[in-house]
Amino acid sequence: MQQRKIVIAIDGPSGAGKSTVARGVAERLGYLYVDSGAMYRAVAWAAGEQGIPCDDAERVAGLTAGLRIDLEKAPNGVRVLANGRDVTAAIRAPEVSHGASVVATHAAVREQLVAQQRRIGAAGGIVMEGRDIGSVVFPGAELKIFLDASVEERARRRYLQQREMGVESALERTRKEVEERDHRDATREVSPLVRAADAVYLDTTALTADEVVQVIVRLAEKKVEESKSGRV
Ligand code: DC
Repeated sequence: MQQRKIVIAIDGPSGAGKSTVARGVAERLGYLYVDSGAMYRAVAWAAGEQGIPCDDAERVAGLTAGLRIDLEKAPNGVRVLANGRDVTAAIRAPEVSHGASVVATHAAVREQLVAQQRRIGAAGGIVMEGRDIGSVVFPGAELKIFLDASVEERARRRYLQQREMGVESALERTRKEVEERDHRDATREVSPLVRAADAVYLDTTALTADEVVQVIVRLAEKKVEESKSGRV
């Protein structure tokens, strides 16, 4: 019998290790990895290209409606295309990170991206990471994980990641950006970052990515087993 494929939602603040972990889990299970944050980033990038201020909710929503975002599997991760243009590296620039957290506060933008995310995950067999995946996008996800880590550790990880990608940054500034973004993500009116009541909380501060992947894969296998024997 074909094994049932579940939906795994991974939420948490920036720098908690979501991308690395979600990608690792997807690889181990043969699932599709979806980075929902990349979609908000693509919108912010496109706004910048068109000279639309990210805080102009109406124009950003209009721009989102006409924007085609594709997430393609690539040898070293995921390739992000905005209207056919490869923006994989461009969307990681600090100003796009800031813009993404602003466009993510607009309800009309979120509605459109959430609808797209639901379409992508409708058949199951996905690991989707973001801020509202377990709470809003897939409230019925079979496995919900909330990844967290201390602010210092998350700033350090983000800083190293940026340096690796050749983005100029300073640790102290990265820390301030992380804190600022945390605040905006947690206090916005629409779908703020919250931990779903049924999410498994994992503090990754002292864990390696491999260790976290192992924990989640084990939980996922258990869920698949349970659903086969009709216990969920
Ligand atoms: O995960 P990330 O840093 O790439 O996300 C970029 C921004 O988008 C961040 O400020 C939070 C926001 N976001 C969101 O509001 N909802 C999601 N599901 C994913 C990201």
